[in-house]
Amino acid sequence: MSDADALDGERIAAAVRAGGGGRRFLLRDEVGSTQDLAFAMADEGAPDGSVVLADGQTAGRGRLGRRWESPPGAGLWFSRVVRPGVPPPPAPLLVAATAVALAAVLERETGVVAALRWPNDVLMGGLKVAGMLIETRDFDPGSPVLVLGVGVNVSQAEGGLAEDLRGTATSLRGAGGRTPDRTGLLCGVLRSLDDGFADLARPGGAERLDAAYVRRAAFVGEAVQLLDGDAPREGVLLEASPVRGVLLRGAVDRGDIRVRPEHARALRPSGPRRGRGLVDRRPPVG
Ligand code: BTN
Repeated sequence: MSDADALDGERIAAAVRAGGGGRRFLLRDEVGSTQDLAFAMADEGAPDGSVVLADGQTAGRGRLGRRWESPPGAGLWFSRVVRPGVPPPPAPLLVAATAVALAAVLERETGVVAALRWPNDVLMGGLKVAGMLIETRDFDPGSPVLVLGVGVNVSQAEGGLAEDLRGTATSLRGAGGRTPDRTGLLCGVLRSLDDGFADLARPGGAERLDAAYVRRAAFVGEAVQLLDGDAPREGVLLEASPVRGVLLRGAVDRGDIRVRPEHARALRPSGPRRGRGLVDRRPPVG
């Protein structure tokens, strides 16, 4: 663990427990994946909002079967038990609630604009700084349980990223704004997730969330490739919405194609990029 930015377990435990309901918190120096420990915790009955945090992971996993580099001391690697109630909100809304909550805190803490690459990557300057993964296993339909894993690259230098990530990913430090301490950042993210999930459950929550996601969507107006089946679709991105799905203007026939949120798996820019990739339509922060 880096002495300069050691995780303060007591402060984080207090922040987790402040959510009430007997929430549990587990901090480990090194684990395979926090996802597995969080599933074990959920199996033992851990309530919604319980958290497993590790300083480093040796087998961190990402979406679409990818690995997730989680070097010790360099980021936030945690999993949160989610008990969404019956019926659970559609998965794309849970993903979007997480993405919006995370992006808002990262932007506030660094002063750098955070955009969302469909469905759940947080980008700064066009490069990925954070990702999330929602997994589920067999559960009693009367008591659904999910595990939400979040990874935030905080302090890696360019050379500290795995070779295949250079040019596509960075860390908060690499993004050039303030580099927050991991403890304060995590406490802010956990609070923001609680608020985001609670708001989603209120009347009008899906509409508010959708608007917040659409405002942060990266690459709107740019040429992209969308993965929703075997062959990627090419087009100009018109909208990325967790309620309506991804809308593309087709590259070949100029016809519009809407792909439902649960079928649109990943999106990446495909054409020449403007600047470092983000069309920021919002006022600056900070
Ligand atoms: C992605 O962008 O592909 C998702 C990355 C999710 C990484 C986090 S780190 C904490 C948790 N444990 C894991 O093994 N994965 C998630």
